[in-house]
Amino acid sequence: MAKRSFRQPAPVPFPRSDEKGRPGPLGARAGLIFSVYDWGMPQSSPQSLPNSLFPSRDAAAATPAPAVRGAFLLVTCQGGAEASLCGRQEAVLPAVSKAAWRRGMVTFRLGDFDPPDDFFPDLIYARAVVRSLGQVSGASDHERVAAVRTLVTHTAWDTIHVWHRDRRLESQTDSPVDPLAVRALLLESYGKPASLPQAARPGDLVLNCLIDAADRWWVGWHRAHTPTSCQPGGMHQTELPGDKVSRAWLKLDEAIATFGVDLRPGQRAVELGASPGGACQRLLEAGLTVVGIDPALVDDRVAAQPGFEQWRMRARDVKVKNFRSFDWIVADMNIDPRSTLESIGRIVTAAGVKPAGIIATLKLPDWSRAKELPGWLDQFRAWGFSPRARQVSTGGREICVVAIKSRRK
Ligand SMILES: C[S@@+](CC[C@H](N)C(=O)[O-])C[C@H]1O[C@@H](n2cnc3c(N)ncnc32)[C@H](O)[C@@H]1O
Repeated sequence: MAKRSFRQPAPVPFPRSDEKGRPGPLGARAGLIFSVYDWGMPQSSPQSLPNSLFPSRDAAAATPAPAVRGAFLLVTCQGGAEASLCGRQEAVLPAVSKAAWRRGMVTFRLGDFDPPDDFFPDLIYARAVVRSLGQVSGASDHERVAAVRTLVTHTAWDTIHVWHRDRRLESQTDSPVDPLAVRALLLESYGKPASLPQAARPGDLVLNCLIDAADRWWVGWHRAHTPTSCQPGGMHQTELPGDKVSRAWLKLDEAIATFGVDLRPGQRAVELGASPGGACQRLLEAGLTVVGIDPALVDDRVAAQPGFEQWRMRARDVKVKNFRSFDWIVADMNIDPRSTLESIGRIVTAAGVKPAGIIATLKLPDWSRAKELPGWLDQFRAWGFSPRARQVSTGGREICVVAIKSRRK
């Protein structure tokens, strides 16, 4: 089994305070007008996330940002997704211009644009979005750490993120560099405890060190805020826990965290393309009852769970009336995105089928197909859903779409 023109939301006006007057998430800088978050939903939307979900620390107590802020944004993505990332940047962030790129990384010249400290535009293909301060090189890790200290005069960091440009390239780099060892040296150099957790807290000021090649690191900073920007390199946990039956568990786990998907115990979900069952496992863990549809068998450990049932057939062979009781339609079939959309469309446009949301993986045979994403998202809208898309870090060459039923006006 194989495992495995854009109607763009305008920059989202983000309130400087929430409904109770608590400070908004923009950090300590005054006068910031907007921030575009990775869920990319207008605040008035029923799907927008309350500030309280990702609370910022008290803005007044926040560690001040560097005085030298940097003239470039450094954005990382999955290797191969650079052109898709730039296409998206042109649509949502035309104020910046592409500068340098390497596999898994693009830099953008900011010009007059000075984004907020916790800037995280809805670039779909972006993992980390960092204010670049430049590159360092040297003959050893110790020399490069010294070069970081020379390049970056700011010294007050809440934490430090160190990661490889693209995890899939790690084994191909000319000499292996251990990000944890580099992080330990940097933490020591800045007088931080070696035990400092890898994940930042919302509001933390983060020094970033992107290992480009053994002897070349990019250095930058950002203020953490969203689940993605709290993780080193914007990457979700990589290790699949031993009791999970497939990496789809991780993908769904990341999608739930990234989009704040509100799964509620007692809800019912159906997954099209369920075998071997990692995503169903994640849904069961959230307290849902789950039907998995797939001609291939679901792993016994999932099949044996109370609350799980498999319909062993192709999605198109299930009568549409059988989808009436589901709150969530999940799709993860290894077929062309158009066929996935056809399957979902047949279900969600049928009489009596009223899911609260759709979580779909659109698998791209090649990156050029990403150009079709705007049209695919329009289909979700035409069905009455508000879609958000993300190339999740635990996924392959695919895009995760979470689409929530739109509220009637
Ligand atoms: C990437 S795997 C799914 C992984 C799964 N979501 C998990 O959590 O482990 C893709 C699956 O889609 C199934 N599939 C492909 N076409 C399908 C169809 N028309 N109807 C149902 N399942 C389909 C395949 O049999 C395969 O098991």
